[in-house]
Amino acid sequence: MNADSLVGRNLLSINDLSATGLAEVLEVAESFVEVSGRSVKKIPALKGKVVASLFFEESTRTRLSFETAAKRLSADVLSLAVASSSVKKGESLKDTIETIESLGIDAVVLRHRSSGAPHQVAGWVKGARVINAGDGTHEHPSQALIDLFTVRRALAERQGVESRDSGLSLLKGAKVLIIGDINHSRVARSEMLAYAKAGAQVRVIGPGTLLPSDVGIFGAQRADDLEKELANADVVSLLRMQEERGSGDFVPSLHEFSALYGIDERRAALIRPDAVITHPGPMVRGVEVSSAVADDPRMLVRQQVANGVPIRMAILFLALSTPGESLHG
Ligand code: CP
Repeated sequence: MNADSLVGRNLLSINDLSATGLAEVLEVAESFVEVSGRSVKKIPALKGKVVASLFFEESTRTRLSFETAAKRLSADVLSLAVASSSVKKGESLKDTIETIESLGIDAVVLRHRSSGAPHQVAGWVKGARVINAGDGTHEHPSQALIDLFTVRRALAERQGVESRDSGLSLLKGAKVLIIGDINHSRVARSEMLAYAKAGAQVRVIGPGTLLPSDVGIFGAQRADDLEKELANADVVSLLRMQEERGSGDFVPSLHEFSALYGIDERRAALIRPDAVITHPGPMVRGVEVSSAVADDPRMLVRQQVANGVPIRMAILFLALSTPGESLHG
């Protein structure tokens, strides 16, 4: 699937969307930014719709921003507290989904430790849209859309142009460097695919044991000289070591990873003043990023979190629309 529009569709992977489809999400999100600045942060676009929020794995940003996004669109939110649900009594994912669907839902936002779980759920539900909020080491498509949106806005500001209605042109040709644990990172997979679709030049660097053997299938290239790449990049994307997925077993120690690939003040000084640094969060200060660099003015981590709401509003709005519906209709 490589659709030109998310309207009426699931979002399981960045590969569900063409470049036109990615640009559509960014443009709709621009129209929702203004809602977050209002005193009454609510529009009736999804009034009467029900969004189920099912997080089988820990989350701060993704869960809060999807739920906030659904509420800003006036949808009702069913939030399953997995730790105190019947999942703990042994209920399967399929039975859990069928139970929730019986309550009458329009969309499921799913985070799960198993890669492919949202694809399975999409095959089980009768009519609800399925949104992947991060599945195992596979993908985190809404995070990649946030990152594109945030970087597009930052590049527009630096160039003194409007990001709105700019499509993907500001990202075309941008040099994106993704650093760290690529193998276990669903954000890295979605970012590589999304930046490459947007026409950026994507390079990845990290310990050999934490790089996929062929990043070409994601539209990226391997790089091997960190300092040269930092000086050349327009966008430096940092990733957390995915310790819960065993990343630590692939490097001699976190200290060594940090010494070889962590971005500290010395390495940050190599990054151009007009370049940007991103991190999907949560950051682990002192491992992939020093505390000073985490607070560097080029670091966009806070903007990424803020942009999570309009991007996820756009995703829910489009996925729950039918062709021909007008925005805010
Ligand atoms: N970036 C991200 O997915 O963060 P959370 O795990 O807090 O949702």
